[in-house]
Amino acid sequence: MGDDTTGGTGTEAPPDPGAVEAAAAAARGALQAAGSLEALEAARHAHLGRSSPLLVWRRSLGALDPDERRRVGLVLNDRRAELESLAEARAAELATEARAAQLAADALDLTEVTARWRPGHLHVVTQVREELEDVFVGMGYEIAEGPEAESDWHNFTALNMPPDHPARSAQDSFYLDLAGGASLLLRSQTSPVQVRLLERGQLPIYAVAPGRVYRRDTADARHLPVFHQIEGFVVDRGVTFADLVGTIDTFVRAIFGEGTRSRLRPAYFPFTEPSAEFEVTCTICGGEGCRTCGQVGWIELGGCGMVHPAVFQATGVDPEEWSGFAFGFGIDRLALMRHEVEDLRTFIENDVRFLRQL
Ligand code: DAH
Repeated sequence: MGDDTTGGTGTEAPPDPGAVEAAAAAARGALQAAGSLEALEAARHAHLGRSSPLLVWRRSLGALDPDERRRVGLVLNDRRAELESLAEARAAELATEARAAQLAADALDLTEVTARWRPGHLHVVTQVREELEDVFVGMGYEIAEGPEAESDWHNFTALNMPPDHPARSAQDSFYLDLAGGASLLLRSQTSPVQVRLLERGQLPIYAVAPGRVYRRDTADARHLPVFHQIEGFVVDRGVTFADLVGTIDTFVRAIFGEGTRSRLRPAYFPFTEPSAEFEVTCTICGGEGCRTCGQVGWIELGGCGMVHPAVFQATGVDPEEWSGFAFGFGIDRLALMRHEVEDLRTFIENDVRFLRQL
């Protein structure tokens, strides 16, 4: 059989057909049985390498007469070609298996992670902002926007706060030190969006402008240097103070529930006249009086008033033809009241144990 010719010297006698088939069968078996790429390489070397029977026999063909040489040569070539492609197919199979095994070994067991995974949700301040937007869109308002880096003109001057106006010092702002000397600051309120809406020149206006505002305040339980306001702004023919009162009452009920009432108290803002602060019945005690509302039963929410003629004049709108009202308040504080949170700073500390509850 082929066994004793493996590793032969190349001097063996030409094979008889039976010996070739036996050697081929042995080679097939060995290649097929190889369980790894290394084993396959070894089998290939033994059965198809230089000193394998098939190759050794090939080198002995010269001893045969020409016809016999062609016949045996063809058989040897056929077998060799067949075995080579078998070896290649087996190599591909083994490579696929090896890759699958590697993937299986590398796979991480994520069962525990998925079991603990919870879907996230919007930040509570974003939720309240979106809820406010929904209420006002439902009342036919558009959502307006303005830049956070705002000009002095929009943030102050056009809002009836000229450079020496005392109200400016009450709002300590972050000024931006820009090349070219343009006087920009991080807006201290959303009220400059009023000016931008008027400058757009499309009247009437029914808009709310929610957004981030900045003040040089030290963070404490009731203040953050970066917080959110929403500005309401309506300009039309014949708008009255009664419309303002009705609008505030409507959205307060929509946000806090039907049982909540609102009231206005006289106040001062440079860009409205008359001006008022609006209050809502305490969400904790319902108006009875408790620690949160300082026993008065009311909580101040924001400012409002009738648009000052100076604001119309600054933006080229005729105050004889148009009138309007404005209001503004802090979204963060509203979220704080709604959820009975005690400290505004918890909104920005990113403690998921806190955020998850809201
Ligand atoms: N901009 C004011 C502030 O930040 C709030 C405010 C008061 C807005 C009265 C208004 C308003 O639109 O009419 O304190």
